[in-house]
Amino acid sequence: MFELDNRVAIVTGSGSKRGIGRTIALTLAKQGAKLVIADLNQEGIQETVEAIRAEGGEAFGIELNVTSEESNRTMVDQVIQQYGRIDILVNNAGISQKVTVEEMSLEDITRVFNVNMFGLFLCTQAVLGQMKKQGYGRIISLSSVSAKRGGGVFGGAHYSASKAAVLGFSKNLAREVAANGITVNCIAPGLVNTDIWKSLDQDTANGVIANIPMGRPGETEEIASAIAFLSSSEASYITGEEIDINGGSHMD
Ligand SMILES: NC(=O)c1ccc[n+]([C@@H]2O[C@H](COP(=O)([O-])OP(=O)(O)OC[C@H]3O[C@@H](n4cnc5c(N)ncnc54)[C@H](O)[C@@H]3O)[C@@H](O)[C@H]2O)c1
Repeated sequence: MFELDNRVAIVTGSGSKRGIGRTIALTLAKQGAKLVIADLNQEGIQETVEAIRAEGGEAFGIELNVTSEESNRTMVDQVIQQYGRIDILVNNAGISQKVTVEEMSLEDITRVFNVNMFGLFLCTQAVLGQMKKQGYGRIISLSSVSAKRGGGVFGGAHYSASKAAVLGFSKNLAREVAANGITVNCIAPGLVNTDIWKSLDQDTANGVIANIPMGRPGETEEIASAIAFLSSSEASYITGEEIDINGGSHMD
């Protein structure tokens, strides 16, 4: 795949047991990157770190709450202390909730935006100074197909709105930092074969699959390989873009 030798990569939300973040972290580590496993979930962090080390990769874990400015700054300080630089940030931490707009409370929408958009902002802001100093950086954020066509079985309008906000934020930032050697891009997955997919009953799953031309959900590896590409120096002239990975369920 792509050469990431000695690049230092932070992946937020990479402590999820069967989530996309763990596969992203394992994939980047396989390409030679040194990984920072950042999550709220301490047990999950440890498992991801061990999985990377078991394959001969390099990683350490940091407990991170992306919604806390202090937590993000502390993480960045620790990474600089440990590895001396930050080349790649993958903003993967995210939450969802299935609720209609009529039933949604202000607390619901605030909670979702706090993690998916404001947390992403805080974490991104925290790494920018170091990336600018280096004159090099790759920021890749997880949006969603539901940002573009509305949510499906899993998310509400607050989730779709937060993931649409990630796209606009990233395009604006891409312009701000392009001259500093920093690229900013998004990935917009469709349904991915994670725990949330496995929780569906067969009838609902069949209904969802009927709307995916490829007839199946995506695999976490199929998301991670695109992120490995955008994280690499080979993707040097791509910025402000998003890659849709959805088996053809949405094309634009
Ligand atoms: N699974 C899908 O089908 C799908 C589709 C489109 C987009 N996405 C997006 O991809 C990303 C990963 O999805 P997933 O299904 O692997 O999710 P997941 O729930 O399996 O993992 C999310 C991780 O984020 C962590 N997290 C939550 N709040 C946090 C916080 N405040 N600070 C730090 N970490 C926090 C959780 O502990 C968890 O480990 C999310 O941004 C999601 O919105 C997922």
